[in-house]
Amino acid sequence: MTDTLTPVLSASWGDERAWKLGNYERTGGYTALRSALQMAPEEVVGLVKDSGLRGRGGAGFPTGMKWSFVPKDNPNPTYLVVNADESEPGTCKDMPLMMATPHTLVEGVIISAYAIKASYAFIYVRGEVLHVVRRLQQAVREAYSAGYIGSNVLGSGYDLEVVVHAGAGAYICGEETALLDSLEGRRGQPRLRPPFPAVAGLYASPTVINNVESIASVPSIVANGADWFASMGTERSKGMTLYSLSGHVANPGQLEAPLGITLRQLLDLTGGMRAGHQLKFWTPGGSSTPILTPEHIDLPLDYEGMAAAGSMLGTKALQCFDETTSVVRSTLRWVEFYKHESCGKCTPCREGSWWLVQILMRLEAGQGVEGDIEKILDLCDNIGGRSFCALADGAVACVTSAIKHFREEFEAGMHTPAWELLPYERSTVF
Ligand code: NAI
Repeated sequence: MTDTLTPVLSASWGDERAWKLGNYERTGGYTALRSALQMAPEEVVGLVKDSGLRGRGGAGFPTGMKWSFVPKDNPNPTYLVVNADESEPGTCKDMPLMMATPHTLVEGVIISAYAIKASYAFIYVRGEVLHVVRRLQQAVREAYSAGYIGSNVLGSGYDLEVVVHAGAGAYICGEETALLDSLEGRRGQPRLRPPFPAVAGLYASPTVINNVESIASVPSIVANGADWFASMGTERSKGMTLYSLSGHVANPGQLEAPLGITLRQLLDLTGGMRAGHQLKFWTPGGSSTPILTPEHIDLPLDYEGMAAAGSMLGTKALQCFDETTSVVRSTLRWVEFYKHESCGKCTPCREGSWWLVQILMRLEAGQGVEGDIEKILDLCDNIGGRSFCALADGAVACVTSAIKHFREEFEAGMHTPAWELLPYERSTVF
């Protein structure tokens, strides 16, 4: 792992009015677009492939490879869609990026759309974050006025329209196929894959869907080269990335660091856990990724390291909980979230998440009954992997991992309320 901590994506987040086009251009903004337009689209795809950039939305699918799945001889138009529906609990990296430097994303959109030969690009933003929607709309308007978007982009002969679309505030619409349904004007519910969107997506046409951070990483790759990007991170998880640090830490917020850094290093850099408290458990990528314990604090935060620990890197949302937190209660809160956000299309997810909440509620209250833990595990077994999308898998990941690491707290739920097990009368978080 390289030891550089020089930020790339967040380099100008602290600058005054960094979101204005003029300020972005003064720090080299849109020069990567000019370079990309000098290249053939296939060359740009090759560059992103060589950089090793992996999708920053959570799954880590290689970005350049996804782009190359777009069929060459398809008579339908190709679309680019940016998934800006960031909603994973604990994840707060894309929203600050779009607020601070929206033009990084807009420039990335133009280069990426050019690379996949798309003439339409959509940025699908969470409906609740009106301030982000407005900031993006303003940036897109500025880019149109400057000739970066529209017909004949910078005199290159390439035409592109960019639309900022606000969702209506549903977690499921961050799932790529539900997002597409929502964008088409329907109720957002997942589609069965395959076909993957790269082959049949928006209006059944080839559609590349990428996360905000992935697309925003493209201009710096074009500007600095694939080798530069690949020199950061680990062997199979390349580049700098944005981590969201939250919970019982001294200084929550976003931090840009190479993939492969450890949680201990990140905590050392940010002042550690809040004074006088110790880490009890944490998530590497929000609540959809299995929880980990202090014994995993020195493992590399990359796709391979987290998989080896029985978890996933996911969105890199590091939620840190100290000894004042009840694992049973936090698990219940997370599952309540998934129950609420389940779109209801698949029975195991819709019904199973409801049943999980019922059992966890009585364990939290110290009124569990014999066999509850086995019942929970059996339910999880019948929910995970049995639904159209990954929401169900996420809903059970926090439960099974919590039982794996803290089974005694769930067993205590047969006779003792969760809050009586804590060093304080009430947890300060939940
Ligand atoms: P996935 O692994 O099924 O797919 C990842 C991407 O690769 C998708 O764009 C998919 O279309 C593409 N892909 C995979 N196999 C392909 C193939 N054979 N051909 C063409 N394209 C292919 O993961 P999924 O279900 O899209 O997302 C799950 C992840 O989302 C989780 O890891 C979770 O961490 C993350 N997540 C992120 C949230 C956020 O707010 N950013 C919210 C909830 C979950």
